[in-house]
Amino acid sequence: MKNLVILISGRGSNMEAVVRACAHEAWPARIAAVIANRPDAAGLMFAASHGIATAVVDHRQYSDRAAFDAALAQVIDGYQPDLVVLAGFMRVLTDGFVAHYSGRMLNIHPSLLPSFPGLKTHQQALDAGCRVHGATVHFVTPTLDHGPIVLQSAVPVCAGDDAAALAARILKTEHVIYPRAVRWFVEGRLALDGERVTLTPPEPQWLFLDDTNANAKDNANAQAAGEGA
Ligand code: GAR
Repeated sequence: MKNLVILISGRGSNMEAVVRACAHEAWPARIAAVIANRPDAAGLMFAASHGIATAVVDHRQYSDRAAFDAALAQVIDGYQPDLVVLAGFMRVLTDGFVAHYSGRMLNIHPSLLPSFPGLKTHQQALDAGCRVHGATVHFVTPTLDHGPIVLQSAVPVCAGDDAAALAARILKTEHVIYPRAVRWFVEGRLALDGERVTLTPPEPQWLFLDDTNANAKDNANAQAAGEGA
C-alpha cells in the first residue's frame, strides 16, 4: 500500500480526480493527506468530507521560501509519502525541497512542456498561434515546470477560443491523465532514465482529445463571422 500526499493551492479539481480514481479503481494506495498553502483552498473541503487528513502550511507565515519549504516538508514527511502529488500547487519550490523528493514528486502543468512554463499558459498558446495545446504530467526537477515527462494530453485550439475556453477543454484531459500517471507510479511501472521516463509494460503516454463537433461548430461560426477558420 503506497502513501500519497497531495498538495493544492485552490480549487483542487485534479486532486479530486486522483482521490476518486484511487477509490473507484481500488489502487494499492491511500491518500494519506491533502495539504494546502492557503487556508481558503476550496479543495480542502472536498478532502475533509472524504475522510482524508488535511493540513495547511500558510506560506505567508514564513519569512522566506527556504523556511516555508522546510516547514512544509516536515508536515509532508509526517505522512511518510511514497509519492508527493502537486495538483495546482502554485509555489516555486527550493532546490533543497525538490532534491528531498527526487523521483517521488509529480506535477501537472497546463501546457505541452517544454513550451510555456510558468503562468497564463493558455493565453501564451493563443498568442503564439498554436493549433494544439495541452497538459503535461512530469517528475519535478529544480527547473520550474520542467522534468522527465510521464504523460501528455493534447487538444485542438478552436477558432474563437479564449483562454477560459481553452483552459476548460484542457482541464477535462488533466482529469484523465493525472490519475493515470499517478496510478502508473503506484503500480511501480515508471522508471527514470535521465530526462526520459519509461513505462513498463508500454502503453501510449499521450492522449489526444479532439471534440470534432465542437471544432466544426467553432469553424463554422468563425467563417460566418468572416474570420476564416
Ligand atoms: C490546473 O489546470 C493545473 O494544471 C494548474 O493549475 C490548475 C489547478 O486546478 N497547475 C499549474 O499551473 C502549475 N504550474 P485544480 O486546482 O482545479 O486542480
